[in-house]
Amino acid sequence: MKILIINGPNLNLLGRREPGIYGAETFEDYLDELRATYEDIDIEYFQSNVEGEIVDRLHQAGFGDEANLCDSGCHPDGGIVDGIVLNAGAYTHTSVAIHDAIKAIETPVIEVHISNVHQREDFRHHSYISPAAAGIIIGFGLNGYRLAIEGLRDII
Ligand code: DQA
Repeated sequence: MKILIINGPNLNLLGRREPGIYGAETFEDYLDELRATYEDIDIEYFQSNVEGEIVDRLHQAGFGDEANLCDSGCHPDGGIVDGIVLNAGAYTHTSVAIHDAIKAIETPVIEVHISNVHQREDFRHHSYISPAAAGIIIGFGLNGYRLAIEGLRDII
């Protein structure tokens, strides 16, 4: 089983960015723990601060390499996957393009947010991802990614 975790903008700064909200652990360290916990699952990781790259990666995960329109192959490290865990970061609250990409693929997508966005500013209360997602996990810190994998395991 292959699962792809996609992190959106600013999530490359986990461990350094607002640790009171997002915690002090880097995502790379957390990913090591996750891979050790799920040795039977191939966990791929992709992070981008660029909306279109996230759309491209969703296409590739859903349709394979032939969906990748980049001349030189933007994402050589992966093809079709069984399930996707997506924290789209701030694009959650703005991106119709990511919403449409999730709708375009059949691969189930679990939306994750580290913080409880509903306890925060009003602009974080609306998600363009939620109506397209197979499930949503919010407010459990980094543990939300593990909970999403557990959820995906049951549906794929
Ligand atoms: C976030 C919440 C978003 O509102 C914010 O823009 C992020 C991180 C979270 O994981 O809590 O970048 O998705």
